[in-house]
Amino acid sequence: MHKGKFVVIDGPDGSGKGTEIQLLKRESLLKKAVFTHEPGATKRGEEIRKLLLARGGSPSIYDFFLFWAARTAHVEEVIMPALRAGKNVIADRFDSSTFAYQLVADGRPELFPLFKKCREAILGRCVPDAYIFLDLPVSIAMKRLKSDKTKRTKYDVMPASYHEKVRRGFRKFAKATGAKVFVVDASRSPEEVHKDMLEILRATLH
Ligand code: TYD
Repeated sequence: MHKGKFVVIDGPDGSGKGTEIQLLKRESLLKKAVFTHEPGATKRGEEIRKLLLARGGSPSIYDFFLFWAARTAHVEEVIMPALRAGKNVIADRFDSSTFAYQLVADGRPELFPLFKKCREAILGRCVPDAYIFLDLPVSIAMKRLKSDKTKRTKYDVMPASYHEKVRRGFRKFAKATGAKVFVVDASRSPEEVHKDMLEILRATLH
């Protein structure tokens, strides 16, 4: 059994996840935690990331497999070693994103049995202890996305209707998987959101 705790922070594009993670990195509670992200985090993962996020391609079942391939390297090379060493791990996106984007938003419910098999086979003993989802109306998320010129992946440029489905996907995740999920209202100020997230992390990482 590993000693570290594993928490995923996830949410739709424009939810302010990046800002919140920067705020968390300054907290003494998380001074020794390993912060990581998807897709990427390993040499193989970063190569796959380039294939996945390039603009121009439309979402495809191919993405489902690539996200899991990158995640396999992430679990083996980063997450498991850290947890085994007794460190807490905070991941910016994880399998919850695959569920929300590749299954729900891309309209592929038939992939769900395969998704569950991948969870069993690839996550093994490093199923997250908790997920924190940043939730907000798509209209607010879209405004944030438009004002952030650095954010321009295949997904960022999708229409509001797609982002609505992504949001719905995150809302369905807990029931579909039985995972422990905390939903935080991300339409508020970064400080207010931070306060709630820190409280959840204090209770989870004790
Ligand atoms: P990225 O530029 O890393 O930024 P952010 O996480 O801050 O949005 O974008 C990653 C994109 O990849 C994001 O739009 C969600 C998407 N994604 C999936 O569709 N499925 C997945 O399994 C993961 C991990 C990410």
